[in-house]
This record gives sequence, structure tokens and C-alpha cells, in this order.
Amino acid sequence: MIHKIMPNMSNSYVFVYLILLHSVLNLKGLAPWATRTRMAIVCQTKVTRNANMEKFRNGYLFPEIEKKKKAHMEKYPDAKVISLGVGDTTEPIPTIVTSAMAEHSLALSTPEGYKGYGDEQGNKSLRKAIADTIYGNMGIRENEVFISDGAQCDIARVQLMFGSNMTVAVQDPTFPAYVDSSIIMGQTGEVLEESGKYKGVEYMRCAPENLFFPDFSITPRTDIIFFCSPNNPTGQAASREQLQQLVDVAKRNGSIIVYDSAYASYISDDSPQSIYEIPGSKEVAIEISTFSKFAGFTGVRLGWTVVPDELLYSNGFPVLQDFDRIICTCFNGASSIAQAGGLACLSDEGHKAIRGVIDVYKENARILLDTFTSCGQEVYGGVNSPYLWVHFPGQKSWDIFSEILEKAHIITVPGCGFGPGGEGFIRVSSFNYKDCVLEACSRLRSFLG
Ligand SMILES: Cc1ncc(COP(=O)(O)O)c(C=O)c1O
Repeated sequence: MIHKIMPNMSNSYVFVYLILLHSVLNLKGLAPWATRTRMAIVCQTKVTRNANMEKFRNGYLFPEIEKKKKAHMEKYPDAKVISLGVGDTTEPIPTIVTSAMAEHSLALSTPEGYKGYGDEQGNKSLRKAIADTIYGNMGIRENEVFISDGAQCDIARVQLMFGSNMTVAVQDPTFPAYVDSSIIMGQTGEVLEESGKYKGVEYMRCAPENLFFPDFSITPRTDIIFFCSPNNPTGQAASREQLQQLVDVAKRNGSIIVYDSAYASYISDDSPQSIYEIPGSKEVAIEISTFSKFAGFTGVRLGWTVVPDELLYSNGFPVLQDFDRIICTCFNGASSIAQAGGLACLSDEGHKAIRGVIDVYKENARILLDTFTSCGQEVYGGVNSPYLWVHFPGQKSWDIFSEILEKAHIITVPGCGFGPGGEGFIRVSSFNYKDCVLEACSRLRSFLG
């Protein structure tokens, strides 16, 4: 047919012509085969994408790492890859806790034991147990404790409550959910390409030079201050004096602190395990916490948030009442089975059993810390936290991540995934079986030595 249109064209010209025609039509989506080669969907909605979602520059950090792990395993199918990356627990949950959950589930199959919806705020007995055992002498009342399906979900719900018209500050580096939820809520502007920071967010640098505590003398006032201690990823627990400073700043500026104490149970020195150990904090702080790393509930899903009665908006309205409204509308209460497990964790025997599990991870962290230290590496954390924060001055985090993966078959987390302040660091997690940690340490010694 081409020869009919252009009778003087040679066969090789015809071939090149067809290839070019194919590419152009395909690119423009005009070829009848183009839709088939691009995607099967032929119908699109008329709904405009949420402009805030378009601001995301990167995919969520951990799926990104998972992709790299998969590619590595395809390249080295025989390598035994050890994960010291994502902070997921590995030790079994003590039987005293799982049997409470099993008993509760079995009772659901009986007419006497069946129960449907519970209180949206959580079971009274669990709220009371948290107020009494976690916050013993801190003056937290059970009505101020809201049971959740995990800290991440409550970070999002707290943000939903605040709305888009808030200014926020975060530690840099820090757990990504605070900035990500700010982006989704529309509290931020676009990303600044050169720094990787989002406009409108105050990144409070936390580095070895400032003992991982923000310099508030140079931090502009924000409505909300997210603060995580012990910090993920740096592994640093703020001291009493530092937290007093944080509360004083919030009071002076009229800000609300959203304090994430997900790793409080890993603190072994006298650093506060809750913001409510600090006098005056109830007027300025919400605390979000979880059973995930405390009791191996990463899959079971259970957490809590404390919103004190004393915490008020500028018009005097209690924040607690808004949070109550949010959880009634957007949540409907945690699984009753998970709550039965949570209650068992807080019994004397249950608490003792889950402490034993935490000690396994703390011992892993000690072994990792010894390894990095004895190799002369600059390393932080690992004492009050399951995470170690390892510095490779002058190098890029993703390069270090790739080199450790390539040479030692170990997954870590590149520090820059936690904010621009994490560049040059990697986070190493102690959540793994002890024999895997020992094997990883021997590989790391060869790698670093
Ligand atoms: C600091 C911090 N907050 C919250 C979470 C989320 O915890 P949860 O499993 O309760 O959603 C994590 C999980 O790794 C975390 O590191």
C-alpha cells in the first residue's frame, strides 16, 4: 500500500517510515493500537485530582525501599537479605496477650459474649488502664484518653481536626507522616526542589551539633509543633530540660504540641516517657501513642491519643470536644479484640511479658551500637530507642543505602527519607531476630572494616 502511495520508495525506506509512523501515532495516542498498548481503561472521570495530592514529590518511603529490595533479590536470588530497614516488629506476642484476644473472639460466637459496636472513644476499662498505668502520677483522666487503631491513623485524624488553615513545625529529620498529612490537608505549599522542603512547613533542624534539639531562637512561631521523642529516626530521647523548653515555647507562642511517644517504652534512662511529665504541658499538648512497638501490635492495630481537658483553642473551646467529634464521625472505635489484647498488656503479668520482648530489641540495638562504635563509625541512638542513626559524612543517604545493600545484602533506610536534615545518614533498625542481627553485624564489620 505504501508503494501505491509513494511508488519510488525503496523497501528499507518503507521500513524506517513505518517505524517512525508507529512511534509518532503511539506517542500522540492516535493509533488504533495505542490505547491498547498504553492501558486497558478507555473511560476517564471528570473529577479533578486533589491539588494537594499533586504536591507529593516522592512515593511513600517504605514502598520505595521495598521496590529496591525486590530488584536486589532478583539480581542476587541466592543472597540472604537481612532487613534492618522498616521498623516492623518480629518477636511473637506473649501468650498472655494473645489468649486474652482469643478468649474475647471466641466469646463473640456466644449469645452472652457477643457485642457489636463499642464506645467510639474506646472501652472504659482500657481507657482507665492507660490513664492509671501509663500516666500513673501525671494527672491524666480516663475521659482524656481516646483509643485508636494506631498512631499513624490518629496523626491523620488530629490533622483532620485542625484543618488546612494551620502552620506546622516538624523536627528535621522526623517520621514522614506529619509532613505528609500536612500536605494532604493543604497546610503546605509546593515542594522547593533545591532543598526538598515543602513551603509553609518549619523544618527544625535536629543534628548532633544541637544535641538533636531544635533551636527555638531561630524557629518562627507555628500553630502546631510535631515533636517525636524518642525520635524516629534519630533515636534521641529529649531530656526533661529540653521538653520543658518545648512546653515553654508552646506556651509563649500559643502553639499546640502534638507529641508522638510511640517509642517511649524503649527509654531506659531518666528522659521523660510522656510530655505530661512536664509541668504545664496539659494546656499545650496532645500525646499520640501506640501498642505497635510497645507490644508488637503493628498488625493487630491499637493505639491511643490523650487530649487533656485543659487544652483550649483561642476562643476558649476545648480541643477534646472537637477530637471526640472527629473520632465519632471518622473512626467508630477500635476493634474490641485488639482492645482485649491491649488490656492484657497492661495487667501486671502482661506488662512483664511485653517488657521481655522490648528487652530483646534493646539487646539487638546494643549489639548494633557496639558494632558501629567498634568500627569507628559516628553513630547515635540505640540506647533509648530501637533505632540507630549512623553518619557517613560527605555521602548521600541513597548511595550509602545502595552500597550496604549491594555489598552486605542488608536493608537500611536512607536518612534523607525523613527530611533534608537526614542527608548523609542511614537509619538502622533493631527489629529483627537476634541471629539475623548477629549475622548483619558480622557483614557490617567486613563492610566497614
Ligand atoms: C514515630 C512513629 N509514630 C507513629 C508510628 C505509627 O504507628 P502505628 O503502627 O501505631 O500506626 C510509627 C511507626 O513506625 C512511628 O515510628
